[in-house]
Amino acid sequence: MTEESGIFVRELERRDGAVLEIRQLSSGDVGCVVWDAAIVLSKFLERRECADPGLFTGRSVVELGSGTGIVGIMAASLGANVTVTDLEDLQDLMKTNIENNSALLTGSCQAKVLKWGEDVLDFSPSPDYILIADCIYYEESLKPLLKTLRDLASSKTCILCCYEERTTGKNPEVERKFFELLKLDFEYEEVPIDKHDEEYRSEDIHILQIYRKK
Ligand SMILES: C[S@@+](CC[C@H](N)C(=O)[O-])C[C@H]1O[C@@H](n2cnc3c(N)ncnc32)[C@H](O)[C@@H]1O
Repeated sequence: MTEESGIFVRELERRDGAVLEIRQLSSGDVGCVVWDAAIVLSKFLERRECADPGLFTGRSVVELGSGTGIVGIMAASLGANVTVTDLEDLQDLMKTNIENNSALLTGSCQAKVLKWGEDVLDFSPSPDYILIADCIYYEESLKPLLKTLRDLASSKTCILCCYEERTTGKNPEVERKFFELLKLDFEYEEVPIDKHDEEYRSEDIHILQIYRKK
């Protein structure tokens, strides 16, 4: 990681040796840094693409709560057409990171505001993939987040949700509530850890593959 006046760059090397350079800010909300779940999901996408070349080429992807944008940028570097989304405050950071990594993108990547629970008229319905990393962390957001998933996803949309299991404070209760709400409209299965990237994996970081119930 390199540092320059409040900016920390997180480097993530791809299997082909190319390096994603993601700016993080030393001050700001939780979205200003890259979380471990984002690394695990990014490298999982790459492993999937490696096993099935072209899997993401030309596919439509929406990432929710993107923060720095790293997961969506990885997907766009694998050929997907991606919209990374977050609150207004994160737009400049996402745009800078897209711009700084543009030479690696074989698909496209754009940043947009999407506050969970608000209307999604500005988004094409039924993307091929919805990506979510480390977004299950406070109770008030759960119903709006699930509403956004219902509004965007069709039964064909593959939702990949990566989260870090945390045992402190309200985290276990927030996770329990998330699954309670998720089951109402979605089916899900956990991706076994031996299918995660061989290096970037951890027993407490889970990847769920979620589909809307038919
Ligand atoms: C823990 S950070 C994870 C960021 C990034 N996905 C990662 O894993 O590095 C959670 C992200 O969710 C976003 N977020 C929180 N509440 C939100 C809401 N109501 N609508 C949209 N985004 C929200 C935050 O701004 C933040 O970027």
